[in-house]
Amino acid sequence: AGVGVVVVAAGSGQRLGQGIPKARVLCGGRTLLQRSLDAVIASGVATHVVVVLPQDDAVLAAVVSDAARRTGGPAIVAVTGGTTRTASVRAGLDALPPPTAVVLVHDAARALTPPDVFRRVAEAVAAGAPAVIPVLPVVDTVKVVDGDVVTATPDRGGLRAVQTPQGFDAAALRAAHAAGGPADPAVTDDAMLMEAHGATVRVVEGDPLAFKITTPLDLVVAEAVLARDPA
Ligand code: CTP
Ligand code: MG
Repeated sequence: AGVGVVVVAAGSGQRLGQGIPKARVLCGGRTLLQRSLDAVIASGVATHVVVVLPQDDAVLAAVVSDAARRTGGPAIVAVTGGTTRTASVRAGLDALPPPTAVVLVHDAARALTPPDVFRRVAEAVAAGAPAVIPVLPVVDTVKVVDGDVVTATPDRGGLRAVQTPQGFDAAALRAAHAAGGPADPAVTDDAMLMEAHGATVRVVEGDPLAFKITTPLDLVVAEAVLARDPA
């Protein structure tokens, strides 16, 4: 039994370009990691939380121990991540107590994700789906290219943009990661590993606020959202 949440926060934030790990960047006066952990705790789904951090990051370690001290809810621990997101997720999975039945994997960079998204994903896994991802319709027309030439235009109606938290049967996700081999930079989410492992991946509705803060423009948008709805 138990629902583990792995929050991956070990990235360096190259595209945001602030010269510090992205999870430490402030948005509305609080770090992205603080905001993500607050959403995890507010969702009420977690029995255990593992936060995956850059090596020797005392600032982020203090954010985690502060959250652990304040919450009367789940156990919260920190571990060190790896050089790819996949390696960081594996480090998080290794730190979950073995009886954990369900795992949610969440990007700390999706700092404004509403607690409801965690609940929707966790409920769908509890209802029996081995893999569940939150998605939104794709708003842009998407092209397949070869160099600078367009080779195809997939039907947008059948495409979805994928967010986190992604939820899994814990044993199935551990097996998919074990079969995934050495860290491949082309693996951008955990559902890909489950698909490759033959699992059916189901979708639930995502939320525009679960967007990933990746570029400086995303941070401007996040600040504007918080200025509109202080949280
Ligand atoms: N992540 C991680 N370990 C890595 C790489 C990424 O834990 N080695 C986490 C990030 O901290 C982030 C999430 O995975 O919460 C999504 O990654 P991304 O948005 O790409 O963050 P960064 O890798 O930090 O950013 P960039 O790619 O621009 O350097
Ligand atoms: Mg990255």
